Amino acid sequence: MQRHSDPAETGRDETYILDLCTTRHGPPDDPPAAPAHDLVRHDFLHAEDPWELFATWMVEATLHEPCDPNAMALATTGDDGVPDVRIVLLKHFDARGFVFFTNSHSQKGRQLAHNPHAALMLHWKSLGRQIRVRGPVTLVAPAESDAYFESRAQLSQIGAVASRQSQPLADRATLVAKVAALLAEHGDQPVPRPEHWTGYRVVPATIEFWQDAPFRLHDRVRFTRHADTWHRVLLYP
Ligand SMILES: Cc1cc2nc3c(=O)[nH]c(=O)nc-3n(C[C@H](O)[C@H](O)[C@H](O)COP(=O)(O)O)c2cc1C
Repeated sequence: MQRHSDPAETGRDETYILDLCTTRHGPPDDPPAAPAHDLVRHDFLHAEDPWELFATWMVEATLHEPCDPNAMALATTGDDGVPDVRIVLLKHFDARGFVFFTNSHSQKGRQLAHNPHAALMLHWKSLGRQIRVRGPVTLVAPAESDAYFESRAQLSQIGAVASRQSQPLADRATLVAKVAALLAEHGDQPVPRPEHWTGYRVVPATIEFWQDAPFRLHDRVRFTRHADTWHRVLLYP
């Protein structure tokens, strides 16, 4: 996105540029800029199965999004009722839900213990797409967490063990010393998964797909689960 603050230089004021993201749409009277990809289709509005659509969009994101296409915002609420949000990586999805891994003693872990509901949001800038998910959260089976933990590099395993995630840390040297001690303890052997390092599954009650379109005439379709079926509704942008 361009950030020109001198209207004399650009002919536009900064508010306008930030607001409209002219690198993609141009000023209001110009025709829309050609999309940077050929994926602006409206047929997804007729999709019957949100899982199939999610899988398609995830594949396209993997092909087009240069960095962490599986990064998603995870929103939770604490016992104060105030929302909190951070990025986690989507590691697995199937008809049961969306899985991420973390430390259950972390802030998000404590919040999920208090209120096992969450919202997820994936945003792919390169595609102009957003997916929003809301629903209850469950822990994955220990065997599932074991399998994923075992698949990680040993240094990532050690990092997970060394980190008292979200707790105050006196200084970085303390963390580095913990990592060094764990490396000495385990050598080049795999590290057992700590019980508090686990997967969570967000079980979608709703999934909304959003696609950027010129002049803010964006496409939105929301699926709501009713028992084993999904009810689809289009939404105004
Ligand atoms: C691209 C990216 C991916 C991340 N993936 C994870 C993840 O999969 N699991 C995790 O616990 N934290 C992940 N983090 C770190 C979290 O955003 C967050 O800082 C951490 O989990 C502590 O959050 P909390 O204090 O709310 O519990 C990631 C951060 C970024 C920027």
